[in-house]
Amino acid sequence: MKVLIIYCHPSKESYTYQILEQLKESLINESIEFQISDLYQMDFQTDMTEKEYMREGLLNLDLSISTDVQKEQKKIENADCIIFLYPVWWSDCPAKLKGWFDRVYSVGYAYGYDGKGNEVQRMKNIKYGIALCTAGHPNKFLNEIGVAESMRNVMIDDRLGQRFNKKEMIILGGTLDREKVENEHSDIVKNIGRRIKKYCI
Ligand SMILES: Cc1cc2nc3c(=O)[nH]c(=O)nc-3n(C[C@H](O)[C@H](O)[C@H](O)COP(=O)(O)O)c2cc1C
Repeated sequence: MKVLIIYCHPSKESYTYQILEQLKESLINESIEFQISDLYQMDFQTDMTEKEYMREGLLNLDLSISTDVQKEQKKIENADCIIFLYPVWWSDCPAKLKGWFDRVYSVGYAYGYDGKGNEVQRMKNIKYGIALCTAGHPNKFLNEIGVAESMRNVMIDDRLGQRFNKKEMIILGGTLDREKVENEHSDIVKNIGRRIKKYCI
């Protein structure tokens, strides 16, 4: 069983980094193999180039796919579970992670049509996907203002979509008052390894 963590935060001083460390511990405790794509550390290119647009936007599948994108697609093909770990910035993931989807979810790989109206997807079906995000606002507030629902619609229903068999969004909210929430967050994160075993066997 292999887990791929797509991690997106620029600083090791952050709360989100602390959560990454707890997540790693949870996977190690369950003897689960994992690989991390640390998007900032890799300096992962976020912007789609014009050449890439010629392929993605104009559906020219004969054009080549960039090497860094191919590497990410290979990691996906080796994974049974993918965890996206990021802070909520302006009610969504950081732009760098959005750029990962823009480029790695290439046409003919993560989506596409064969010209006869049939959907084409080469990307393997992933058993379990988790969007794990930290947020300054408490969950109750994010639910009340509809942001939790909109994040779920975009991240879970669209970006993970039918490519994932089981999927869920875990919002670790209320980080503006860290002391109040960190024990609760730790308990949730500690349990992730066990949940992966349950859904990936
Ligand atoms: C640019 C930026 C935008 C943010 N936007 C939101 C937001 O829309 N909603 C929210 O609840 N928190 C927001 N926050 C707070 C972060 O979600 C919070 O800082 C993070 O979850 C935990 O902090 P960390 O950066 O130490 O990991 C934002 C923070 C930054 C830096």
